[in-house]
Order: sequence, then C-alpha cells, then structure tokens
Amino acid sequence: MPAVKIFPSLLSADFGNLQADVHRTEDCVDGFHFDVMDGQFVPNLTVGAPVLRCIKSKRPFDVHLMVEKPDILLKDFSDAGAAAVSVHFETCPHLHRTIEMIHELGMAAGVAINPATSFQAAYEAIRMADFVLIMSVNPGFSGQSFIPEVLGKVRKIRAEFPQKDIQIDGGINDQTIHLVLEAGANWIVSGSYFWNAKDTKAVASILRGD
Ligand code: DX5
Ligand code: ZN
Repeated sequence: MPAVKIFPSLLSADFGNLQADVHRTEDCVDGFHFDVMDGQFVPNLTVGAPVLRCIKSKRPFDVHLMVEKPDILLKDFSDAGAAAVSVHFETCPHLHRTIEMIHELGMAAGVAINPATSFQAAYEAIRMADFVLIMSVNPGFSGQSFIPEVLGKVRKIRAEFPQKDIQIDGGINDQTIHLVLEAGANWIVSGSYFWNAKDTKAVASILRGD
C-alpha cells in the first residue's frame, strides 16, 4: 500500500485564523485539505480561490471541489497554489477532459465519489485519476457520522489498484481510523476530530495508525 498521509480539512479550522492554524500544525501533517462548496451541488457554501491564495504553507494544499461546474474554477485554484484538485464524479459529464485540464495546469487530479456511487460506475474515472477520494459521509458538512458501507468500495479499489492513493473523507476519528486503514485507504482527511483536539500532534499520530 502507498504511504499513509494526513490531510486536516480546513473546514473545521478557525476561519478567522487560518494562517495561524496552518502554521501551528504543519509540522505534523502531510498537506491541508481545502473544501470548496457552491450551495448547489451540496447544501452549504464555503470559500474559494481568493482565500486559498492568502494562506501559505510548506505543505501542499489539496482542494476538494464540491461544486456543479468545477472546470471553470480550475485555473483560479492553480494560480492560488493548489497542488492537487479533486472533482466529483457526479458533477463531471466529461471527466477525462476535466482530468486533462487539471494536468495541464500542473496539478494532481483526483476523482471524488459519493457514498451512493458504486465502484463499478466509477471504474474508468478511478483508473484515469491520479488519486480517488472516497466520501465516507454525504458531502456538505464536517462533524457527520462515518458511513460504514463505503468500506467495501475502498477494499475493491485497493484490490484492483494496489498503487493508487485512496483518500477517505468524512467522520474519521479514533474509532473509525483503523477500519479505513485496514480496508486500504492511505490519504486520511480529518476535520472536526483533528481541529477539536488539544494535542494535534498526538491526533496526527493516531490517524497514521501508530
Ligand atoms: C465534508 C468535507 C470534509 C469535512 C470532513 O463534505 O468534504 O472534508 O471537512 O469533516 P469531518 O472529518 O468532521 O467529517
Ligand atoms: Zn473534503
């Protein structure tokens, strides 16, 4: 299995002090997950590229686009410093073209898959993408409960694509981390569990399965 990496989701960080939160935690994580919501694809609205542009880190930023029209935002996120972008399978009728656009902009391309989307339906998209983001909650909010049914999908992807980075997002904490690592996920996104912790270094180590 490829290396385990930890990506705190900035959705649960302090939006008034994003730079400070990034700065105080960047030593113990591998990158930061930046959730973008348009109030259309998901029933919530967050922030966009102008906010990302203001945050600096020695770690890469991984942007999760929960928007109906991701293609029109890709260049802005590239210019703002994103290293990786994931788009939802459910929003992209021409996913191959979208992945090409992400690559042309010099970023890694991920395909994000909702809990109700099957491995079989998304097979070709997963094959084409650099990494796959398995949603283990319905996208839109942090602090929701983990949906255990997605574990079967993670196992199938790991069996079929042993070298693929499998990111898991939603409801990850000290109770669920061992389930997702065991199933084969290796990029761990954590929002509320990570940012609610007093000792983020200790939490990062728990999320690595140490
Ligand atoms: C939800 C977002 C997640 C969210 C995870 O739609 O994609 O990244 O921040 O938060 P937790 O870890 O609290 O479920
Ligand atoms: Zn996310």
